[in-house]
Amino acid sequence: MSEHLKKEAARAALSELSSGMRIGLGTGSTAAHFVDLLGDMVAEGFACICVPTSEATARQARERNIALATLDEIERLDVTVDGTDEIDADFQLIKGGGGALLREKIVAAASDRMVVIADSSKRVEALGRFPLPVEVNAFGLGATLAAIRAVMAAHTAQGEAVIRQGADGGRFVTDGGHLIVDASFGRISDAKDLSHALLDIPGVVQHGLFLGLCQEAYLAAPDGVVRMSGGR
Ligand code: 5RP
Repeated sequence: MSEHLKKEAARAALSELSSGMRIGLGTGSTAAHFVDLLGDMVAEGFACICVPTSEATARQARERNIALATLDEIERLDVTVDGTDEIDADFQLIKGGGGALLREKIVAAASDRMVVIADSSKRVEALGRFPLPVEVNAFGLGATLAAIRAVMAAHTAQGEAVIRQGADGGRFVTDGGHLIVDASFGRISDAKDLSHALLDIPGVVQHGLFLGLCQEAYLAAPDGVVRMSGGR
């Protein structure tokens, strides 16, 4: 059911594409449906050049013969299509459940538009139910973790900060070679202030709050896909 909804959201976002576009490809199970559908279009002659947001997406895109480039070769993209872990009414997002938040944010910021695709369960009244992924440098981890916990206390977090584990039981390592701290807030009341506070910690590389980056979303529910638009 949920896979079906993710695919319907991905399919709806194909309407955003036109020939010759430079496209950012997101990461995660919903973004994978989009890459798959785009692969079908490419097989039928659709021309585009894409920048992937993770090694996993790059592998999938290569398998589907989608032409890839880097942001060294193309500085700006027309659109990025990506999944999300949460989206609120102001198009604020929590991303990074798949650990690709740094590249996802770099690619989204280099894009004229970011389009989110998700099943409608990702739509929330307030951000924070999903633990906020914070990408950190392994050096000084103890000090960074303490600083993140202090920021969480100042933002009345209701949960803990934990270092993410990988499938092999060891620490999860991002494509950039960093670690992820998952910070459970319960409810985030001032996302902008929290963003600044986290980025002020030297060991924090980036966090999963995407603010002012997303303009549009396709959210799939059993009774159809809803298009949200108007984000800054
Ligand atoms: C990866 C992400 C994903 O977009 C997010 O976790 C949603 O994934 P899915 O589509 O599998 O639910 O931010 O870093």
